[in-house]
Amino acid sequence: MQLNPRQDSCSPLSVAPRATTACFYTADGRHRALNVHVMFDLSGKVALVTGAGQGIGAGIARALAAQGAVVAVNDVVANRAQTTVESIVAAGAQAIACGFDVTDYNNVDTAIAAITDTFGAIDILVNNAGIPFGMGLKKFRETEPSEWRKYIDINLYGVMNCSRIVIENMCDRGFGRVITIASGAGTHGLELGVSGYGAGKGGGIAFMRHLALEHAKFGVTANSIALGLMAGGPEPDVTESIARSIPARRLGTPEDVGALCVYLASNEAGWITGQTMHLNGGSQTS
Ligand SMILES: NC(=O)c1ccc[n+]([C@@H]2O[C@H](COP(=O)([O-])OP(=O)(O)OC[C@H]3O[C@@H](n4cnc5c(N)ncnc54)[C@H](O)[C@@H]3O)[C@@H](O)[C@H]2O)c1
Repeated sequence: MQLNPRQDSCSPLSVAPRATTACFYTADGRHRALNVHVMFDLSGKVALVTGAGQGIGAGIARALAAQGAVVAVNDVVANRAQTTVESIVAAGAQAIACGFDVTDYNNVDTAIAAITDTFGAIDILVNNAGIPFGMGLKKFRETEPSEWRKYIDINLYGVMNCSRIVIENMCDRGFGRVITIASGAGTHGLELGVSGYGAGKGGGIAFMRHLALEHAKFGVTANSIALGLMAGGPEPDVTESIARSIPARRLGTPEDVGALCVYLASNEAGWITGQTMHLNGGSQTS
Protein backbone atom coordinates (compact mmCIF):
# COMPACT_ATOMS: atom_id res chain seq x y z
CA MET A 1 0.00 0.00 0.00
CA GLN A 2 1.36 3.39 -0.94
CA LEU A 3 0.18 6.57 0.73
CA ASN A 4 1.60 9.88 -0.40
CA PRO A 5 0.24 12.91 1.43
CA ARG A 6 0.27 16.06 -0.70
CA GLN A 7 -1.01 18.94 1.35
CA ASP A 8 0.94 21.79 -0.20
CA SER A 9 -0.91 24.79 -1.63
CA CYS A 10 -4.20 23.49 -0.27
CA SER A 11 -6.81 26.15 -0.42
CA PRO A 12 -9.93 24.43 -1.74
CA LEU A 13 -11.59 27.84 -1.99
CA SER A 14 -9.25 28.76 -4.81
CA VAL A 15 -10.70 25.92 -6.91
CA ALA A 16 -14.42 26.50 -6.48
CA PRO A 17 -15.21 29.86 -4.96
CA ARG A 18 -18.06 29.28 -2.55
CA ALA A 19 -18.81 32.92 -1.78
CA THR A 20 -20.95 33.42 1.28
CA THR A 21 -21.89 36.95 0.30
CA ALA A 22 -23.39 38.27 -2.91
CA CYS A 23 -24.04 41.82 -4.11
CA PHE A 24 -27.50 43.04 -5.15
CA TYR A 25 -28.88 46.40 -6.27
CA THR A 26 -32.10 47.61 -4.65
CA ALA A 27 -34.86 49.36 -6.66
CA ASP A 28 -33.38 52.76 -5.83
CA GLY A 29 -29.99 51.66 -7.17
CA ARG A 30 -28.33 51.15 -3.79
CA HIS A 31 -25.83 48.35 -3.43
CA ARG A 32 -26.39 45.66 -0.75
CA ALA A 33 -24.43 42.59 0.29
CA LEU A 34 -26.45 39.55 1.37
CA ASN A 35 -25.39 36.29 2.94
CA VAL A 36 -25.95 33.44 0.49
CA HIS A 37 -26.14 29.75 1.36
CA VAL A 38 -23.87 27.91 -1.02
CA MET A 39 -25.10 24.41 -1.86
CA PHE A 40 -23.11 21.22 -2.34
CA ASP A 41 -20.18 22.48 -0.28
CA LEU A 42 -17.96 19.53 0.68
CA SER A 43 -15.46 21.49 2.80
CA GLY A 44 -14.28 19.46 5.78
CA LYS A 45 -15.29 16.14 4.20
CA VAL A 46 -12.86 13.31 3.43
CA ALA A 47 -13.56 11.34 0.24
CA LEU A 48 -12.11 8.11 -1.15
CA VAL A 49 -12.51 7.50 -4.89
CA THR A 50 -11.37 4.08 -6.12
CA GLY A 51 -9.87 3.53 -9.56
CA ALA A 52 -9.32 7.27 -9.85
CA GLY A 53 -5.99 7.22 -11.64
CA GLN A 54 -7.63 7.98 -14.97
CA GLY A 55 -10.94 8.32 -16.80
CA ILE A 56 -14.19 8.67 -14.91
CA GLY A 57 -12.67 8.19 -11.44
CA ALA A 58 -10.15 10.99 -12.02
CA GLY A 59 -13.05 13.27 -13.05
CA ILE A 60 -14.99 12.35 -9.90
CA ALA A 61 -11.96 12.98 -7.69
CA ARG A 62 -11.39 16.40 -9.28
CA ALA A 63 -15.06 17.37 -8.90
CA LEU A 64 -15.21 16.42 -5.20
CA ALA A 65 -11.92 18.24 -4.52
CA ALA A 66 -13.18 21.35 -6.33
CA GLN A 67 -16.12 21.46 -3.90
CA GLY A 68 -13.71 21.39 -0.95
CA ALA A 69 -13.35 17.69 -0.04
CA VAL A 70 -9.96 16.23 0.78
CA VAL A 71 -9.71 13.34 -1.66
CA ALA A 72 -7.87 10.03 -1.27
CA VAL A 73 -7.20 8.99 -4.87
CA ASN A 74 -6.95 5.21 -5.19
CA ASP A 75 -5.73 3.13 -8.09
CA VAL A 76 -4.20 -0.32 -8.31
CA VAL A 77 -1.62 1.36 -10.59
CA ALA A 78 -0.08 3.68 -8.01
CA ASN A 79 1.58 6.13 -10.41
CA ARG A 80 -1.78 6.80 -12.10
CA ALA A 81 -3.23 7.82 -8.74
CA GLN A 82 -0.26 10.13 -8.21
CA THR A 83 -0.94 11.84 -11.57
CA THR A 84 -4.53 12.60 -10.55
CA VAL A 85 -3.33 13.91 -7.18
CA GLU A 86 -0.90 16.25 -8.93
CA SER A 87 -3.69 17.72 -11.07
CA ILE A 88 -5.85 18.29 -7.96
CA VAL A 89 -3.03 19.87 -5.98
CA ALA A 90 -2.10 22.06 -8.98
CA ALA A 91 -5.69 23.37 -8.92
CA GLY A 92 -5.23 24.34 -5.27
CA ALA A 93 -7.10 21.52 -3.50
CA GLN A 94 -6.04 18.65 -1.24
CA ALA A 95 -5.49 15.04 -2.26
CA ILE A 96 -3.39 11.99 -1.45
CA ALA A 97 -2.54 9.00 -3.59
CA CYS A 98 -3.18 5.51 -2.27
CA GLY A 99 -2.26 2.53 -4.39
CA PHE A 100 -4.19 -0.58 -3.42
CA ASP A 101 -6.27 -3.32 -5.00
CA VAL A 102 -9.95 -3.02 -4.02
CA THR A 103 -10.43 -6.78 -4.41
CA ASP A 104 -8.02 -7.54 -1.53
CA TYR A 105 -9.86 -6.98 1.76
CA ASN A 106 -6.74 -6.83 3.97
CA ASN A 107 -5.06 -4.41 1.61
CA VAL A 108 -8.15 -2.16 1.61
CA ASP A 109 -8.34 -2.30 5.42
CA THR A 110 -4.68 -1.25 5.84
CA ALA A 111 -4.99 1.54 3.27
CA ILE A 112 -8.18 3.02 4.73
CA ALA A 113 -6.65 2.94 8.22
CA ALA A 114 -3.69 4.95 6.86
CA ILE A 115 -6.00 7.50 5.17
CA THR A 116 -8.03 7.84 8.38
CA ASP A 117 -4.85 8.38 10.45
CA THR A 118 -3.74 11.14 8.08
CA PHE A 119 -6.99 13.00 7.35
CA GLY A 120 -9.72 11.56 9.57
CA ALA A 121 -12.53 9.10 8.88
CA ILE A 122 -13.93 8.80 5.37
CA ASP A 123 -17.22 10.64 4.83
CA ILE A 124 -17.66 9.88 1.11
CA LEU A 125 -16.79 6.63 -0.63
CA VAL A 126 -17.07 6.43 -4.41
CA ASN A 127 -16.70 2.85 -5.67
CA ASN A 128 -15.53 3.53 -9.20
CA ALA A 129 -12.75 0.97 -9.84
CA GLY A 130 -13.76 -1.29 -12.66
CA ILE A 131 -12.86 -3.03 -15.85
CA PRO A 132 -13.93 -1.13 -18.98
CA PHE A 133 -17.23 -2.21 -20.48
CA GLY A 134 -15.81 -2.90 -23.91
CA MET A 135 -13.01 -5.26 -22.76
CA GLY A 136 -13.55 -8.65 -24.33
CA LEU A 137 -17.10 -8.59 -25.70
CA LYS A 138 -18.02 -12.30 -25.73
CA LYS A 139 -21.21 -14.28 -25.80
CA PHE A 140 -21.82 -16.11 -22.51
CA ARG A 141 -21.54 -19.55 -24.16
CA GLU A 142 -17.97 -18.69 -25.20
CA THR A 143 -16.81 -17.64 -21.72
CA GLU A 144 -15.12 -19.50 -18.84
CA PRO A 145 -15.61 -19.15 -15.06
CA SER A 146 -12.22 -17.42 -14.70
CA GLU A 147 -13.50 -14.63 -16.95
CA TRP A 148 -16.68 -14.13 -14.88
CA ARG A 149 -14.72 -14.08 -11.64
CA LYS A 150 -12.74 -10.93 -12.46
CA TYR A 151 -15.97 -8.99 -13.07
CA ILE A 152 -17.55 -10.25 -9.86
CA ASP A 153 -14.35 -9.63 -7.88
CA ILE A 154 -14.03 -6.00 -8.83
CA ASN A 155 -17.66 -4.92 -9.29
CA LEU A 156 -19.10 -6.77 -6.30
CA TYR A 157 -16.34 -7.78 -3.85
CA GLY A 158 -14.43 -4.53 -4.46
CA VAL A 159 -17.55 -2.52 -3.60
CA MET A 160 -18.34 -4.70 -0.56
CA ASN A 161 -14.74 -4.58 0.74
CA CYS A 162 -14.48 -0.78 0.68
CA SER A 163 -18.03 -0.30 2.00
CA ARG A 164 -17.50 -2.72 4.90
CA ILE A 165 -14.40 -0.89 6.07
CA VAL A 166 -15.82 2.65 5.99
CA ILE A 167 -19.37 1.97 7.16
CA GLU A 168 -18.89 1.67 10.93
CA ASN A 169 -17.14 5.01 11.22
CA MET A 170 -19.87 6.61 9.09
CA CYS A 171 -22.58 5.23 11.41
CA ASP A 172 -20.71 6.34 14.54
CA ARG A 173 -20.38 9.87 13.16
CA GLY A 174 -23.95 10.10 11.82
CA PHE A 175 -22.93 10.99 8.25
CA GLY A 176 -21.85 8.94 5.28
CA ARG A 177 -22.23 8.79 1.51
CA VAL A 178 -21.52 5.64 -0.48
CA ILE A 179 -21.80 5.93 -4.27
CA THR A 180 -21.18 3.05 -6.65
CA ILE A 181 -20.45 3.65 -10.32
CA ALA A 182 -22.49 1.01 -12.08
CA SER A 183 -23.73 0.61 -15.64
CA GLY A 184 -26.89 0.24 -17.68
CA ALA A 185 -25.57 -3.31 -18.24
CA GLY A 186 -26.36 -3.94 -14.55
CA THR A 187 -29.99 -2.89 -14.91
CA HIS A 188 -30.92 -3.96 -18.47
CA GLY A 189 -30.16 -6.97 -20.62
CA LEU A 190 -27.91 -6.37 -23.63
CA GLU A 191 -27.12 -8.54 -26.64
CA LEU A 192 -23.52 -7.35 -26.91
CA GLY A 193 -21.71 -10.06 -24.93
CA VAL A 194 -21.27 -8.40 -21.54
CA SER A 195 -23.06 -10.91 -19.28
CA GLY A 196 -20.21 -11.25 -16.73
CA TYR A 197 -19.75 -7.49 -16.56
CA GLY A 198 -23.52 -6.97 -16.27
CA ALA A 199 -23.79 -9.60 -13.52
CA GLY A 200 -21.04 -7.89 -11.49
CA LYS A 201 -22.56 -4.44 -11.94
CA GLY A 202 -26.04 -5.75 -11.12
CA GLY A 203 -24.65 -7.32 -7.96
CA GLY A 204 -23.12 -4.00 -6.93
CA ILE A 205 -26.48 -2.26 -7.47
CA ALA A 206 -28.37 -4.86 -5.39
CA PHE A 207 -25.79 -4.60 -2.61
CA MET A 208 -26.14 -0.81 -2.49
CA ARG A 209 -29.91 -1.11 -2.00
CA HIS A 210 -29.43 -3.30 1.07
CA LEU A 211 -26.63 -1.13 2.40
CA ALA A 212 -28.91 1.90 2.03
CA LEU A 213 -31.81 0.45 3.99
CA GLU A 214 -29.68 -1.00 6.77
CA HIS A 215 -27.93 2.32 7.38
CA ALA A 216 -30.43 5.08 6.55
CA LYS A 217 -31.22 5.64 10.24
CA PHE A 218 -27.56 6.47 10.88
CA GLY A 219 -27.46 9.32 8.33
CA VAL A 220 -25.64 7.16 5.78
CA THR A 221 -26.91 7.04 2.19
CA ALA A 222 -25.97 4.54 -0.51
CA ASN A 223 -26.79 5.00 -4.20
CA SER A 224 -25.66 3.69 -7.57
CA ILE A 225 -25.07 5.60 -10.78
CA ALA A 226 -25.81 3.47 -13.84
CA LEU A 227 -23.78 4.94 -16.69
CA GLY A 228 -24.44 4.77 -20.38
CA LEU A 229 -21.65 4.86 -22.93
CA MET A 230 -18.87 7.28 -22.07
CA ALA A 231 -16.41 9.16 -24.26
CA GLY A 232 -12.80 7.99 -24.41
CA GLY A 233 -13.41 4.30 -25.17
CA PRO A 234 -10.86 2.15 -27.00
CA GLU A 235 -12.62 2.47 -30.38
CA PRO A 236 -13.51 6.15 -30.96
CA ASP A 237 -15.04 5.53 -34.43
CA VAL A 238 -17.48 2.97 -33.03
CA THR A 239 -18.39 5.01 -29.97
CA GLU A 240 -18.89 8.18 -32.04
CA SER A 241 -21.35 6.35 -34.29
CA ILE A 242 -23.18 5.08 -31.18
CA ALA A 243 -23.24 8.67 -29.90
CA ARG A 244 -25.48 9.63 -32.81
CA SER A 245 -28.10 7.16 -31.55
CA ILE A 246 -28.15 8.69 -28.03
CA PRO A 247 -31.06 11.14 -27.60
CA ALA A 248 -28.66 13.79 -26.20
CA ARG A 249 -26.43 13.18 -29.29
CA ARG A 250 -23.24 12.85 -27.28
CA LEU A 251 -21.31 10.42 -25.11
CA GLY A 252 -20.98 10.98 -21.37
CA THR A 253 -17.95 12.65 -19.80
CA PRO A 254 -16.15 12.36 -16.46
CA GLU A 255 -17.50 15.84 -15.68
CA ASP A 256 -21.11 14.59 -16.07
CA VAL A 257 -20.40 11.85 -13.53
CA GLY A 258 -18.43 14.15 -11.20
CA ALA A 259 -21.33 16.60 -11.00
CA LEU A 260 -23.81 13.89 -9.94
CA CYS A 261 -21.33 12.53 -7.41
CA VAL A 262 -20.92 16.01 -5.89
CA TYR A 263 -24.68 16.22 -5.46
CA LEU A 264 -25.09 12.72 -4.01
CA ALA A 265 -22.16 13.34 -1.64
CA SER A 266 -23.57 16.62 -0.34
CA ASN A 267 -25.59 17.35 2.80
CA GLU A 268 -28.43 18.40 0.48
CA ALA A 269 -28.84 14.84 -0.88
CA GLY A 270 -29.49 13.28 2.54
CA TRP A 271 -32.97 12.02 1.59
CA ILE A 272 -31.86 10.14 -1.52
CA THR A 273 -30.90 6.60 -0.66
CA GLY A 274 -31.21 3.12 -2.13
CA GLN A 275 -31.59 4.55 -5.64
CA THR A 276 -30.04 3.76 -8.98
CA MET A 277 -29.66 6.95 -10.97
CA HIS A 278 -29.36 6.55 -14.73
CA LEU A 279 -26.87 8.89 -16.37
CA ASN A 280 -26.94 8.16 -20.07
CA GLY A 281 -28.13 11.08 -22.20
CA GLY A 282 -31.56 9.48 -22.43
CA SER A 283 -30.46 6.20 -24.03
CA GLN A 284 -32.45 4.18 -21.42
CA THR A 285 -35.28 5.64 -19.42
CA SER A 286 -36.27 4.39 -15.97
N1 LIG B 1 -16.32 3.95 -19.84
C1 LIG B 1 -17.59 3.56 -20.00
O1 LIG B 1 -18.18 3.64 -21.10
C2 LIG B 1 -18.35 3.06 -18.80
C3 LIG B 1 -19.72 2.77 -18.94
C4 LIG B 1 -20.43 2.30 -17.84
C5 LIG B 1 -19.77 2.14 -16.61
N2 LIG B 1 -18.43 2.41 -16.51
C6 LIG B 1 -17.80 2.20 -15.21
O2 LIG B 1 -17.15 3.39 -14.79
C7 LIG B 1 -16.02 3.06 -13.99
C8 LIG B 1 -14.78 3.77 -14.52
O3 LIG B 1 -14.61 3.38 -15.87
P1 LIG B 1 -13.47 4.02 -16.80
O4 LIG B 1 -13.99 3.96 -18.19
O5 LIG B 1 -12.98 5.32 -16.26
O6 LIG B 1 -12.33 2.89 -16.65
P2 LIG B 1 -10.74 3.03 -16.78
O7 LIG B 1 -10.23 1.66 -17.12
O8 LIG B 1 -10.36 4.16 -17.66
O9 LIG B 1 -10.30 3.38 -15.27
C9 LIG B 1 -10.47 2.44 -14.25
C10 LIG B 1 -9.33 2.57 -13.27
O10 LIG B 1 -9.54 1.59 -12.23
C11 LIG B 1 -8.29 1.03 -11.91
N3 LIG B 1 -8.49 -0.29 -11.33
C12 LIG B 1 -8.77 -1.44 -12.02
N4 LIG B 1 -8.83 -2.46 -11.16
C13 LIG B 1 -8.61 -1.96 -9.92
C14 LIG B 1 -8.56 -2.54 -8.63
N5 LIG B 1 -8.74 -3.87 -8.46
N6 LIG B 1 -8.30 -1.74 -7.56
C15 LIG B 1 -8.12 -0.41 -7.74
N7 LIG B 1 -8.13 0.19 -8.94
C16 LIG B 1 -8.39 -0.57 -10.02
C17 LIG B 1 -7.52 0.99 -13.21
O11 LIG B 1 -6.12 0.92 -12.99
C18 LIG B 1 -7.95 2.29 -13.90
O12 LIG B 1 -7.06 3.35 -13.64
C19 LIG B 1 -15.90 1.54 -14.01
O13 LIG B 1 -16.50 0.99 -12.85
C20 LIG B 1 -16.69 1.16 -15.25
O14 LIG B 1 -17.19 -0.16 -15.19
C21 LIG B 1 -17.71 2.86 -17.56
